[in-house]
Amino acid sequence: MVAPMVGLSHVAFRELIRCYTPEEVQPLIFTEMLSSRRLPSEKLEKAENLFIAPNESYLVPQLLGNEERFIAPSIEKLLELRPWGIDINMGCPKKKTLSHNWGVLLLGDRDYAAEVVRITKRHSPLPVSVKLRAGLGDNIDLDYLDGFTQSLEEAGADWLTIHCRPSKQKHHGKADWDVLRKIAEKRTIPIVANGDVQTAEDAVNLIDHYQVDGAMVARAATARPWILWQIAYLLGGNSPARGRALEKPPLTPEEEGKEYFQALLRFGFLLEQYFGPTAASLQRLKFYIGVSSPWLPFGHHFWKHIYSSTEFQQARDRIEVYAEKNPQVLRARVSH
Ligand SMILES: Cc1cc2nc3c(=O)[nH]c(=O)nc-3n(C[C@H](O)[C@H](O)[C@H](O)COP(=O)(O)O)c2cc1C
Repeated sequence: MVAPMVGLSHVAFRELIRCYTPEEVQPLIFTEMLSSRRLPSEKLEKAENLFIAPNESYLVPQLLGNEERFIAPSIEKLLELRPWGIDINMGCPKKKTLSHNWGVLLLGDRDYAAEVVRITKRHSPLPVSVKLRAGLGDNIDLDYLDGFTQSLEEAGADWLTIHCRPSKQKHHGKADWDVLRKIAEKRTIPIVANGDVQTAEDAVNLIDHYQVDGAMVARAATARPWILWQIAYLLGGNSPARGRALEKPPLTPEEEGKEYFQALLRFGFLLEQYFGPTAASLQRLKFYIGVSSPWLPFGHHFWKHIYSSTEFQQARDRIEVYAEKNPQVLRARVSH
């Protein structure tokens, strides 16, 4: 799976991932979190974060919500996107999110959180999942997480994705994958691991050794949008990605470094296709490079160079020049 990420999980990014994924591999790819207060009045043809590709499938929109009067019409709106399922956000620690008493605040009250799952299930004909933090504050309390996930399971959640960092840790530092074993052992619904999944080997390691049913890649999918292709390859699949003559995914640091710039050029093309050569497209491109460039040894330099661009086309031209002049490698892992 590919994670919900504000500012990143738009249609151009999802298409970039898909074009690096073999046809027979169907990843679930999430939208960024969507407010249930805004969704009911959004116009699908105008709201850029709701744009989808023609024939896009296996899409999972993520909902921020807690009240039936907003959740019900939001789901009705989301069904127009032909999603595969609906995810509920119980992990966002941002201040604005907290003022509505949703996101990670739901993690503080198991009955309240379970009620949100029941409401969503009542209105969704599709599978409903929850993406949650492993803990509130600084620590992970395994007994609490066990009880909490049990309540979500009993309320009808179809699967759970656990981001293995407590809320105060935000996105920094190591994720504690060990918590997954105990929870996966206790739950009968699928458990998906998230947090610090940076390589294809990480994903396979999680599935083989941590008893989880799946892995969700987040930031690393910006550095290596072909990571699902690599995972498929590692698991024995040998199909090329869509429309690619290459038999194998990029595997060595040099192959990945080279492909990174090709991916950026393709991403620029997709941004233009879906959103036009606008200031917003430039902003999206800059943000993507900000998140992905730490995997390059001199990523900060590259990011600064792109960041000073004032026009979308100027940034694309700079990427092209940089790609030709500076052969790069991609690091396997970075510490956030
Ligand atoms: C820029 C950014 C935006 C994010 N937006 C969301 C979001 O909308 N919903 C959500 O559940 N998590 C969001 N997250 C958290 C990621 O989905 C993921 O849980 C987190 O990055 C940990 O995975 P990683 O260490 O592999 O990056 C966001 C993370 C980042 C970096």
